[in-house]
Amino acid sequence: MELDPATLEQTAVYKILISSVVPRPIAWVSSIDAEGIRNVAPFSYFMAITDNPPTIAFSSSPRAAAPGAERGKKDTLRNVEATREFVVNIVDDALAEHMNLTSGDYPPEIDEFALAGLTSAPGVKVKTPRVAAAPISMECKLARIIPVGNAPANLVLGEIVYFHVRDDIYDAATGRLDMHRLRPVGRLCGNLYTHVHDIFEMKRPGTTYRG
Ligand SMILES: Cc1cc2nc3c(=O)[nH]c(=O)nc-3n(C[C@H](O)[C@H](O)[C@H](O)COP(=O)(O)O)c2cc1C
Repeated sequence: MELDPATLEQTAVYKILISSVVPRPIAWVSSIDAEGIRNVAPFSYFMAITDNPPTIAFSSSPRAAAPGAERGKKDTLRNVEATREFVVNIVDDALAEHMNLTSGDYPPEIDEFALAGLTSAPGVKVKTPRVAAAPISMECKLARIIPVGNAPANLVLGEIVYFHVRDDIYDAATGRLDMHRLRPVGRLCGNLYTHVHDIFEMKRPGTTYRG
């Protein structure tokens, strides 16, 4: 099958792209608006960019709109623009259903922590609360927002200024997090997800790898 995105409907391109780049990690982004209303929503256009300084990015597409109507910004993007900070929480098996609940198209005045039955915990270096039950939360200060493409999508880059890591997954001997205990959830396409329960090891050639 040969597929030229220039000749395809946008939805068809979206489906092929999100089926090809799999599994994707999920940034479960908490944010607050200028009045302090709490928001949390998942974004799987999500990646780590560099560790010096630790920087991650997620992309917010425009909100879906009725045909002919203008597509506005999602609440998360508006909040990050207003406060210049956010928290990325990692979703594990136990939190998957809660994460899914927070992906609904709710008006900005809805507190999505309350809606999804989530307890928040205060940030240390940001005013934005984190998801208390998340195994990892990364407090971020906005580094920059880059509009990309025609819609456009907005790529939000954040510098991590504080990590919260659940004690039982931090291995002090290696400095790594225990992948068997973390149990993160990955996004596939459509309504499909994957668990990370089947882990294997491959040593790199050479001895210089620092990870
Ligand atoms: C697993 C998952 C991943 C998602 N990834 C993205 C994404 O990368 N970019 C995006 O714009 N929306 C994504 N969404 C949809 C948003 O979560 C959804 O539009 C949400 O309502 C945005 O909330 P907000 O308006 O409070 O920011 C995703 C939804 C799910 C369930």
